[in-house]
Amino acid sequence: MHGNKPTSHICSQKKKNPLKYSLIDMASFLTYSLSLMKLLVFSSLLLILVSCFVKTSNAFEGRKDWTSAIGSHFHTVEISSLLPASVCTTSSIKGTSNKRQSTLEFYHRHGPCSRLGQDKANPTTIPSLSEILVNNEFHVKSIQARVNPNSNTNQLKNQKANLPVQSGLSLGTGNYIVTIGLGTPKKTLSFAFDTASDLTWTQCEPCAGSCYKQQDPIFNPSTSTTYCNVSCKSSECSQLFSATGNKPGCTSSSACIYEILYADQSFSVGFFSGDKLTIARDEFPNFLFGCGQDNEGLFGETAGILALGRHPISLISQTAQKYGKYFSYCLPSTPSQTGHLTLGKNGVPCNVKFTPFDNSQGPSFYFINILSITVGGHQLPIEQSVFKTSGCIIDSGTVITRLPPAAYATMRIEFRKQMSKYKIAPAFEILDTCYDLSGYTTITIPVISFTFSVNVKVNLAPFGILVAVSATTACLAFAPNWDVSDVAIFGNTQHKTFEVIYDVAGGKLGFGPDACQ
Ligand SMILES: *[C@@H]1O[C@H](CO)[C@@H](O)[C@H](O)[C@H]1NC(C)=O
Repeated sequence: MHGNKPTSHICSQKKKNPLKYSLIDMASFLTYSLSLMKLLVFSSLLLILVSCFVKTSNAFEGRKDWTSAIGSHFHTVEISSLLPASVCTTSSIKGTSNKRQSTLEFYHRHGPCSRLGQDKANPTTIPSLSEILVNNEFHVKSIQARVNPNSNTNQLKNQKANLPVQSGLSLGTGNYIVTIGLGTPKKTLSFAFDTASDLTWTQCEPCAGSCYKQQDPIFNPSTSTTYCNVSCKSSECSQLFSATGNKPGCTSSSACIYEILYADQSFSVGFFSGDKLTIARDEFPNFLFGCGQDNEGLFGETAGILALGRHPISLISQTAQKYGKYFSYCLPSTPSQTGHLTLGKNGVPCNVKFTPFDNSQGPSFYFINILSITVGGHQLPIEQSVFKTSGCIIDSGTVITRLPPAAYATMRIEFRKQMSKYKIAPAFEILDTCYDLSGYTTITIPVISFTFSVNVKVNLAPFGILVAVSATTACLAFAPNWDVSDVAIFGNTQHKTFEVIYDVAGGKLGFGPDACQ
C-alpha cells in the first residue's frame, strides 16, 4: 500500500450499468452476508460524530497543567463540573497558527451540540449512560477477541445477553462525529472515528442487503465519477484479511468484497472500493474504503466508521504522504462541549509527554506499556508481570479503561481507602466503586496517575477519575478485565481534555494536558 498515490491496477473495471448490480452478484452478496453472521466476530468500533471544519487552532493556549501538579496529590472538584450542561459550548480554539494541517471539530453524538438524533418526536433515541456502558462492552470484547483469540473471555456467543438491540437506535459506543467528503462531486458524510479500526467503511446504495438509517443521504457510487471497484486480484484486496480478520471475497466480475464484524453481531459487507476522499481542503484520490451493501447494527445515524488504526489500509496510512502518520484529538470533559481531531503535525507543544508505542504485537492497535499507577501519590504495589501478561492498548472508542484484574483490585483498595470519608453507593453497571455525594458541592479526590515509560507520568484530570452517573452519584472510572490475559485498554474517559497525540511514524504517543475544556 502506498499512501494516497492512485495506482492503475487497483480498479478492476470500467463503469458499466452502474445502477444495476447483477443478480449473481446480489445473490452471492446475500449468501455472503448470511454466512458471515455465523462467523466469529472481530474488530471494533467507535462512534464519533462531528460537524464543522475548523481551519486553525492553538488549543494549547491558556491551559492549566495537570501534570505539573507534582506536589499536590489531590484534586478539589466541584460536583457540577462533572455533569454535562444542557447547552452547547464550542471549545475556545484560539490563535491564527496555520501550521496544523487539518483540524476537524467534533461533537458528542448525544450532547446538545449534536445535529444527529434531534428528532423531537423521538427523544428516547438518546441512550442512557447505562446503555452506553453495556453496548461499549461489545466494543471491548471485539478488541480483546482480535488481540487474543484464545482468551477465556472471548466466548462471543455467550456475550449476547442483555443488549437492548433496537435497529436504528443510537446506542453507539463511541461518541463523536467527524464530517468528511467522499466522491466526485463531493458528498458530505458523518463518520464515527475509531483508533481500533483499520478499514474505513460507509453504507452504499443500492444497499443490496440492507442499510440502517443514517443522517446523511447514503453514498451512491454510481453518481461519483471517480469511484472504482478494487480488483480481488490486487494486493490491496488481500490486505483486508489482516485489517478485518476476515478473508476477502470475489465477485464473478472480480470485484473485491470485504466484511467486517463486531462482537454485538453488527456488521458491514460490500465492495472494497476507491474514490476521492476530502478532508477539510485536502483531497486524496483513490482512497480505499468499504462501500457497504449490507450493513446492520448499532452505528447510530453515522454513515460508517473512519478508521484511525495502524494498519496499512487505515486512513492514517493512506494519508501518510500528506499528514505524515501523525494525528491528535482532544475529547471534551462533557458532551456539551466540542472537541477536535487534527490530522498532521503542528509544532509539538512543550508540555507534551511522549511514550513509545510497543509495535511488536501485530499490524493493528496502538500498544503502549504501563509501568505503574499511583493513587494520591501512593504507588500501587502491582507486579510488572501483571501488565506484561495482558499488554495494553490505547483506544478512543473504549469508554472506561480496563485494567488486568489484579491491577484493578489494587487500585480499588487504595482509592476506597483515600475516599473513606464519602459514603459508598451501589455499583453502576461495570463501575463498582461509587459514592453518594448528595450534600456536597465540592469534593477532594486523590489524583490518579499512570506512568507509561520512565519519566512519562500522566496525571489524570478529575473527569478521568470519577464519572458522574447521576446528579449526586459518581463512580471510579475504571473497570477490571475478566481474564489476566485480556488486553488492558486505556479508554476515552481517561483521555478527556488531553491532547492525545499519535505520532505513528515516530512510534510514540503523547499526552498534553488541558487542551480543550
Ligand atoms: C463494481 O462491481 C459490481 C459487482 O461486480 C458492479 O455491479 C459494479 O458495476 C462495479 N462498479 C464499477 C464502478 O465498476
